[in-house]
Amino acid sequence: MKILAIETSCDETAVALLDISGSKSKPDIKILSNNLFSQIHLHQEYGGVYPNLAKREHQKNLPLLLEKTLQEAGEDPENPNIDCIAVTSGPGLEPALWVGITTAEELGAKWNKPVVPINHMEGHIFSVLYKVEGKALKLPALALLVSGGHTELVLVEGFGQYKIIGRTLDDAVGEAFDKVARMLGLPYPGGPEISKLAKSHREKGLDSVFVFPRPMIHSKDLNFSFSGLKTAVLYKLKSLGPIDSDTQESVARAFEDASVEVLIEKTRQAIGTYDELQTLIIAGGVSANSYLQGEASKLAQEFPHIKLIIPDPSLSTDNAIMIGIAAYIKSEDNSQGATTHPIKAQGNLSLEK
Ligand code: KG4
Ligand code: ZN
Repeated sequence: MKILAIETSCDETAVALLDISGSKSKPDIKILSNNLFSQIHLHQEYGGVYPNLAKREHQKNLPLLLEKTLQEAGEDPENPNIDCIAVTSGPGLEPALWVGITTAEELGAKWNKPVVPINHMEGHIFSVLYKVEGKALKLPALALLVSGGHTELVLVEGFGQYKIIGRTLDDAVGEAFDKVARMLGLPYPGGPEISKLAKSHREKGLDSVFVFPRPMIHSKDLNFSFSGLKTAVLYKLKSLGPIDSDTQESVARAFEDASVEVLIEKTRQAIGTYDELQTLIIAGGVSANSYLQGEASKLAQEFPHIKLIIPDPSLSTDNAIMIGIAAYIKSEDNSQGATTHPIKAQGNLSLEK
């Protein structure tokens, strides 16, 4: 099945042409062409993503990326040989989502091809199907989704069947990484920057100088909260005044220690609650964090019947490949019903129906 996938939910304009076949749990995914244009440098001065700027940039870049992607795959940009167009319809920034959706609908009408709306978080979950190593993906799975907008524990009972069993009550963990990075004078997006400093601090064999709170770690549910942790870092930095680079590393490390410990502990609790689980998926931008990956591997060793899968590093942050993969899953899944047109941008689209 040839799928043209479009992603414009946040600050990456991404287009991919994929040829996917085989079973849903171990599909054969061929990337015929893949292009991504990041707006990160433009949003850096705001310390985060500015929705109307994102929209304008998507409008400018999407047509160019579409043409480039089709040409690179040897397709006629005026009449490509594809089976469908997949587009992110939410969650995300609505002005940004609309750019992808209206373009996909226009092309669908022009080429007479179906347009499939895709939930961005479903894309993150199934990003792990790309290069899934060894055996097929076994369900039910628990997915820890960690991105700039989401922190969720999702029970993946089957393809297209999701139950959110835990979520953040305030900031997403990626958002907390970005905000703490900003407090430390580091550029957006802050996750990779914090991670670098924290890693350097650990590699020096230094003990953690600061200890930040682990919000809700002992709460009786599977929810998260990161806003208090962020505020604790802010107060600590205010009390310290100007800091040197060692202290900066130390703060970054203490923040990463605290946030990752909460993510891992809640995941441990969730695994303990659902004993039929076969797989633990960790996906979304923050899944690129090497410390989180290391702690997740240790956690997985406690549960030998569970296989841990983290996406290929090229697919942890936003991309169009994961949107195409999710469209393939959906195309084979009759439970989801027919698409209602026109497709609407849904900023708060949930994985639960
Ligand atoms: O999934 P994603 O690309 O976009 C959203 O859907 O939000 O995630 C972006 C988030 C940003 O907050 C970024 O700081 C974070 O992922 N991130 C990381 C790392 N790489 C990206 N956070 C921690 N450590 C990283 N290595
Ligand atoms: Zn994302």
